[in-house]
Amino acid sequence: MKLLLLFISALISGCERLEEVFVEEDLLQRPQAKRCADCHADIFREWEKSRHALAWKSEQFRAETENYAKLKCLSCHAPHQVDEGKKPVLRVEFREDGVSCVACHFKEETKSMHGPLKVWSPPHPSKQDLSYIRSSFCAGCHQETYKEWKLAKVQKTCQACHMPSLGKKDLIQKFPFYLFHLAKPRHSHEFPALKAGPEDVEVRLEGRKLILKNVGVPHNLPTADQGDPRLYLIAEVTYSDGRKRTVRKIFSPQTKTALPYMKPKAVLLPRGDIKEVRVRILRKLAWKKEKDLIKEVTLRTLSP
Ligand code: HEC
Ligand code: HEC
Ligand code: HEC
Ligand code: HEC
Ligand code: HEC
Repeated sequence: MKLLLLFISALISGCERLEEVFVEEDLLQRPQAKRCADCHADIFREWEKSRHALAWKSEQFRAETENYAKLKCLSCHAPHQVDEGKKPVLRVEFREDGVSCVACHFKEETKSMHGPLKVWSPPHPSKQDLSYIRSSFCAGCHQETYKEWKLAKVQKTCQACHMPSLGKKDLIQKFPFYLFHLAKPRHSHEFPALKAGPEDVEVRLEGRKLILKNVGVPHNLPTADQGDPRLYLIAEVTYSDGRKRTVRKIFSPQTKTALPYMKPKAVLLPRGDIKEVRVRILRKLAWKKEKDLIKEVTLRTLSP
């Protein structure tokens, strides 16, 4: 059944006039994200959970922009069109959709949807565009993080970590359209909140120096352009005479103290004959109150 329909669709796709008949004009008039959900239901459900969908509605963003009065703040949070490496301009319509489907996929120049695949999509023209699989696609808005990533000189792209592969799935769920299409490579539009693991941060003790190194996340830890995410170090030091001291330190982009990739940072512990240090590293995302534990380890000085 599916094969027969695919055969018919191949015949139709060869015939341009017929293709025009299927175009749903409003899709090329920059509709709301929920309109895309009529066919791309699964992708919409993922996007809805992402921070991109909340970029405008975020209470903190509303407060910090003095109720959207600070014009210079608005364009990345409600962009008109995303172009590789360019800071976007502010959108006029449906700003509450934040970083929306149309903003990331619709291009005025070609009046079509751009995306990573070569597809036949009768309801709206589509164009394959390989900028979607490059890190520079994210660079116009995530400007600082992109610079840090370039300095890290790794092969892995932002998408490889932040839009993890979901394997092959249908791009559309609407009947009967999905019968005409094969499953294709899909990537999570939820941009799931990732967390560094214990192996991503190395901790060593050299005399009184506690040395931290970000060995796993190829941009600063934490990273941000505007938000205020933080990394917390709590070091409980026990001395050989039984004294205890606790050292606390915050690493953050706003205080320019975040841990760059592969560059060690030292924290000096109070003087004394150190017996052991219990180290805990926690992180707080920009938009969340709770802290999450990244690593917990007890270090001992080697000499008895
Ligand atoms: C049009 C600008 C824009 C583009 C393009 C963009 N983002 Fe974002 N992104 C944002 C904004 C604004 C936020 C913050 C939303 C909020 O929380 O208010 C964000 C949030 C995020 C977050 C969550 C940050 C957090 O604090 O938890 C991740 C991860 C992310 N983006 C990754 C990406 C990746 C990867 C790409 C490229 C595939 C990308 N973004 C493209 C504007 C953009
Ligand atoms: C009436 C159904 C329908 C609606 C509504 C719809 N699309 Fe599509 N779209 C399709 C079909 C069909 C395909 C091709 C599916 C396939 O090849 O498996 C497609 C493919 C795509 C692709 C892949 C392009 C590529 O080259 O990688 C993107 C991106 C896309 N649509 C974006 C959108 C956006 C954004 C909206 C909302 C403005 C939207 N679509 C609304 C039917 C629809
Ligand atoms: C922040 C920008 C951004 C937003 C918002 C966004 N997309 Fe995408 N989309 C991408 C990128 C980047 C890829 C390519 C991912 C890859 O190949 O690694 C992609 C891929 C796709 C694909 C190809 C299949 C896949 O999963 O790789 C479709 C279809 C698509 N998007 C539709 C949508 C729809 C519908 C929405 C809204 C519900 C949406 N996108 C929102 C950036 C975005
Ligand atoms: C090797 C995988 C990897 C690559 C490549 C990568 N990141 Fe990340 N990124 C992470 C991890 C892991 C975290 C979580 C750090 C933590 O524990 O707070 C993160 C955190 C972030 C955050 C903070 C909010 C959040 O969701 O934790 C943003 C924003 C972000 N990355 C954007 C980007 C952008 C933009 C690129 C490309 C220029 C990129 N990342 C490349 C793994 C990666
Ligand atoms: C160049 C694009 C860009 C501009 C301009 C911009 N932001 Fe953002 N904003 C981002 C991105 C990307 C994020 C996602 C996390 C991060 O990297 O900080 C973000 C996240 C945030 C967050 C944390 C997430 C949340 O919703 O709580 C706040 C608050 C914020 N921005 C406020 C502002 C304010 C205030 C201004 C103006 C001074 C501004 N932004 C201008 C791109 C931008």
